[in-house]
Amino acid sequence: NYKKLKFIISHAKSYGFIFPSSEIYDGLKAVYDYGQYGILLKNNIKEYWWKSMTQLHENIVGIESSILMHNQIWKASGHIDEFNDILLYNENTKKNYRLDLLIEDFLEKMNNYNNILFDNKNINYNINYIKKNFKKKLFSYIYECFNKNKILDIKSLINKLNIYEPGYKIYKINLMFIVYLKNLDNNKKLYLRPETAQGSFINFLNVKKTSKIKIPFGIAQIGKVFRNEIIARQFLFRMREFEQMEMQFFVCPGEEEKWYDYWKEYRLKWHLSLGIKKDNYRFYNHDKLAHYSKDACDIQFKFPFGFKELEGIHSRTDFDMKNHEKFSKKKLRYFDFKKNISYIPYIIETSIGLDRMFLAIFSSCLKEEKIKNDINHKRIVFKIPYILSPIKVAILPLVKKNELTFIGKKIFKKFKLYYSLVYDEKDSIGKRYRRQDAIGTPICLTIDYDSLKDNCVTIRYRDSMNQKRIPILKIKKNIEKSINI
Ligand code: GAP
Repeated sequence: NYKKLKFIISHAKSYGFIFPSSEIYDGLKAVYDYGQYGILLKNNIKEYWWKSMTQLHENIVGIESSILMHNQIWKASGHIDEFNDILLYNENTKKNYRLDLLIEDFLEKMNNYNNILFDNKNINYNINYIKKNFKKKLFSYIYECFNKNKILDIKSLINKLNIYEPGYKIYKINLMFIVYLKNLDNNKKLYLRPETAQGSFINFLNVKKTSKIKIPFGIAQIGKVFRNEIIARQFLFRMREFEQMEMQFFVCPGEEEKWYDYWKEYRLKWHLSLGIKKDNYRFYNHDKLAHYSKDACDIQFKFPFGFKELEGIHSRTDFDMKNHEKFSKKKLRYFDFKKNISYIPYIIETSIGLDRMFLAIFSSCLKEEKIKNDINHKRIVFKIPYILSPIKVAILPLVKKNELTFIGKKIFKKFKLYYSLVYDEKDSIGKRYRRQDAIGTPICLTIDYDSLKDNCVTIRYRDSMNQKRIPILKIKKNIEKSINI
């Protein structure tokens, strides 16, 4: 549903959530700036994640490692050799295709058309359907593989492709950005980190020594990462510069399955605790695993363009730690006094893209509603969980007259210490309510001429649009009760 995506993009821009990067210079693809409300919403998501992962788990600490790190880290982690995309370039059409995205699209369609595709009677029709709708022979082959083994063998796929489509050239492109540390006589090549995870692994000893924490324990991080995405698309979904919220959980070998299940369940609960409908989420178990993984699944979210990965939960074995031990020649072991054994810990990772979460919130919470008694008969309302709302309360004097603005400013001054507020005296009150609906403000307080007599204001609720009068002295109590913050 690209109409919905377009609606989200335009709303996010018009209301100060997301701006295209470098816009006055005609933009830079797949990088975005967060505007005045966007950054507040983003920070609220961060805080919700951070508190739930660190404050609520006495055995998880948070750190912030650097973006630039020693080159050997990326050799040890496998990123220099393995973190590649396979790119198909058709010389005839001069078009690029990213192989994994083609396959992903295809599998998704397969899923949507599951009933038809796996009905034997209709098989011819189905193959025709595939030929017509997808990139012909490439997809017939994928279909063939899929139907026979249910697992795609990428190597043989590439070999076949050369026979099927002679116009394709195949390239491997590493996804890490390179930067140079300039010197007079030589330039040292460095990489911008493509995940925060490695920064946590290499600080294992530091955290262990300084926090006296015992396994099982976790290291959480939120931070910028960079990926040279060949084909970036779908707004915040696939960016070249984005933020991750990751947690690496160090466990005793043999206990990884138990903790993998625990984190799968906990992370889904985290999403549901925001009050977003359950049918927007589903698990997807990976058959084809990343180079470091033993078990992996995604929490997929129903974006406007279909169910797609929002978060990954990976059982990374001791792959990373073992390699860092090998490359750094430092012992990355844990001595378990109770069991009297020393081991390299196994890792369970939870990894969610902050920007993707931001898009998920927009996808499920931005609504167009029909309303009675309104000239436009509709309103756009951003029904986000109150805890994530960029602005919690808007203070709106009915008209711009000193008696009323005076009270409004006084209320603003009193409560700005507790909540993120706006004070707005421009435009008609109707327009101002719509503006607050559009940015997701749960509560508006309106000061009118009666306020001068009864010391009350009108409180208006975003979701129900109900209004009632409350004493100025009871504003805080009312806010606390209604938005539970
Ligand atoms: N440390 C593991 C790791 O980085 P990943 O599946 O490559 O795993 C984790 O990325 C999460 O980061 C994804 O689930 C997604 O939410 C987010 N992500 C990945 N690539 C992204 C991109 N190009 N733009 C925005 N978010 C992205």
